Amino acid sequence: MLEDWLAPKAAALESRGLTRRLRPRPADEVLIDLAGNDYLGLARDPRVVEAAVAAVREWGTGSTASRLVTGTTELHAELESELAAYTGHEAGLVFSSGYLANLGIITALGGPGTLLVSDEHVHASIVDACRLARSRVEVVPHSDLDSIGKVLAERKEPHAIVLVESVYSVLGDAAPLEALAALALKHNALLLVDEAHGLGVTGNGRGSVAAADLAGLDHVLVTMTLSKAMASQGGAVLGPTILRDHLINRARPFIFDTALNPAACAAALAALRILQGEPARPRRIHETAARLAEACEVMPSSGAVVSVPMPGPREAVAAAEVCLAAGVRVGVFRPPSVPDGISRLRLTARADLSTADVDRACAIISSAIR
Ligand SMILES: Cc1ncc(COP(=O)(O)O)c(C=O)c1O
Repeated sequence: MLEDWLAPKAAALESRGLTRRLRPRPADEVLIDLAGNDYLGLARDPRVVEAAVAAVREWGTGSTASRLVTGTTELHAELESELAAYTGHEAGLVFSSGYLANLGIITALGGPGTLLVSDEHVHASIVDACRLARSRVEVVPHSDLDSIGKVLAERKEPHAIVLVESVYSVLGDAAPLEALAALALKHNALLLVDEAHGLGVTGNGRGSVAAADLAGLDHVLVTMTLSKAMASQGGAVLGPTILRDHLINRARPFIFDTALNPAACAAALAALRILQGEPARPRRIHETAARLAEACEVMPSSGAVVSVPMPGPREAVAAAEVCLAAGVRVGVFRPPSVPDGISRLRLTARADLSTADVDRACAIISSAIR
């Protein structure tokens, strides 16, 4: 039965060059990795690793239950208050992934009385949250303030939330946050900013919302992942305490999901503390991103992501294979993971890459894409 059902779908993907395959990586591979999201280069930092190991020894391997049962440890509480203090918000709430943080806040604030205004380039987790929220959803053209203003002004719903990313995950461009926050305020709406690619990277590490002086405003809320610059797993919502209390009571992905494991909390806390003590790390990301963009002759990135358009999915995969054979791993994004339908190489600048490795990567990638 499954063969008849799924084989034609697999064949259709294959014929368009869109089949995805898993490639388990060995622990000891010697590659320049520009595909992962370990932006600050902390996932193997001994201080982060030791913090995770110590947490396993102290707390065990799992969190034992959901947050409202026994899953909330002192580490969760510490992580929430340090994340909030660092990014300039009143309170934080940790979820077991960034995906679930987006599902949690959007479904808990959504419903028939809330209009969701979603930028067409937002991450799949926000798209899925909109689908689950039982709200009317307006998808607006990318970073188009006029369209956002129009749908906000014409709405019948008492509440509205504008959904954006601070640095977009695939194209690496930045949202016009100041203008968006002003527009949201004018229309009595909330602005929810996903800082998955901002935290640790923009605003000297504090993210784009803090850099734009919007952190702590009543109508500007933030979600983030701990799986990229924070070198761990998990996600968080940052905002006013009243929002945190609402989510604890209403966000189903918070209430019905086993809490983030203590080792992941400890690793994220350690990474956050390193980031605060080593401000050169975010600067280094931007230097490397600028070098990569120059080598590939594309627009400079607002964050760590350098996006290199390719003629098609097959060309993108072929160029990535050439890079891999030469010792550089790059990301390949193809439809449906690209918001504009254009296949591309996605390069991520990491703070821990040496100048020699960046030079080598630039030479290899610029030759592979030509
Ligand atoms: C913008 C954005 N939001 C949310 C997520 C999901 O975060 P997580 O991997 O922690 O579930 C990602 C990527 O993973 C992302 O790029």
